[in-house]
Amino acid sequence: MNIGLIGCGNISHAYLKNGKTFKQTTLRACADARPEAAKACAETYGLKAMSVDELLADPSIDAILNLTTPQSHVAINLRAIEAGKHVHCEKPFGLDREGGRRVIEAAKAKGLRVGCAPDTFLGGGHQTCRKLIDQGLIGRVVSGTAFMLCHGHESWHPAPAFYYQKGGGPLFDMGPYYLTALVNLLGPVARVSAFTNRSTDLRQGLKANEGKTFPVEIDTHVSALLEFASGAIITLITSFDVWKHSNLKDIELHGTEGSLHIPDPNAFNGDIRFFKAGLSADWAPADNPFIYNDNMRGIGLADLAAGVAKGRPHRCSGDLAFHVLDIMCGICESAAEGRCVALSTTCERPAPLPVGLLAGELD
Ligand SMILES: NC(=O)c1ccc[n+]([C@@H]2O[C@H](COP(=O)([O-])OP(=O)(O)OC[C@H]3O[C@@H](n4cnc5c(N)ncnc54)[C@H](O)[C@@H]3O)[C@@H](O)[C@H]2O)c1
Repeated sequence: MNIGLIGCGNISHAYLKNGKTFKQTTLRACADARPEAAKACAETYGLKAMSVDELLADPSIDAILNLTTPQSHVAINLRAIEAGKHVHCEKPFGLDREGGRRVIEAAKAKGLRVGCAPDTFLGGGHQTCRKLIDQGLIGRVVSGTAFMLCHGHESWHPAPAFYYQKGGGPLFDMGPYYLTALVNLLGPVARVSAFTNRSTDLRQGLKANEGKTFPVEIDTHVSALLEFASGAIITLITSFDVWKHSNLKDIELHGTEGSLHIPDPNAFNGDIRFFKAGLSADWAPADNPFIYNDNMRGIGLADLAAGVAKGRPHRCSGDLAFHVLDIMCGICESAAEGRCVALSTTCERPAPLPVGLLAGELD
């Protein structure tokens, strides 16, 4: 599949460096609202720089990789679909349910595929945990925790303003990693309830952004309870208001027969440990038999291309991303209205990756 990239910013390098890992996709051209960014990207990675209009009109481009900032995701996705192209987008899938729904419906009407980040759950770390849970290692999952606590991105990102606008914040920025990982492991969420807070209405830039300020439009501390359709109850905390913590990170699931420590869902591998009641005296490391353990951003798009070629569903699907968006919107509603919110969307768990793949293979 020939790919055109829109949005040549900070994260684009991770995708472009992996550009040759998967033969299912070939990056051909790039565009950005800032033509100089597209030009620099094209020169570094051997692509053709175009305007967004030219890229969308180019019949040789089969799919768009949308790496723009959250506020442009829906608009660019809709334009790509209108131009007859499949689209894979960075997270979040939209700012609200209405935007996400329009993208899903437009793609369905045209018979095109929609995909969305994160694709980190296709990494060896989370695929190993999925395998262990499906094998029943810890029994039926009853409860768990998922923590993403930090002090925001204004100390390192060159243009962090979008993280404090609608579509940013710890929930819409980092939540998709944790929620997608949890849905991959446990299936869909049924109900949510939450409280949210913020430390300030004006963030002060740090280090590279010293002297700059960023208005805060959204809450920057989100404490939520998720009730999964399976019955599991997970505590999710995402925060840009924590300077330091002792060890509140990653995901832990607790089942009828043991516990599983699941690595950071923003990475492709990490700390996988289990405790099996009656078997181990303490945490034991788990073997990881999967091959995609380095930064493989772009694997989700390659899987979309493989899905089209093989006539099978792709794993980072629009339905999965829309369910994750619905969970995040439900969390915000619950906090604003002081009630528990029942979700109206659901989705299938994506198919696990097989063990024994060779480099670049997905089937
Ligand atoms: N930076 C990271 O570490 C990181 C990691 C994972 C995911 N993401 C996600 O990737 C997306 C992009 O993040 P980033 O850090 O690269 O942002 P960025 O601001 O560095 O880059 C975004 C680029 O998109 C361009 N752009 C924005 N709207 C556009 C439009 N309508 N048409 C054409 N170009 C447009 C901007 O000019 C900019 O060059 C976000 O959704 C973010 O959540 C970022």
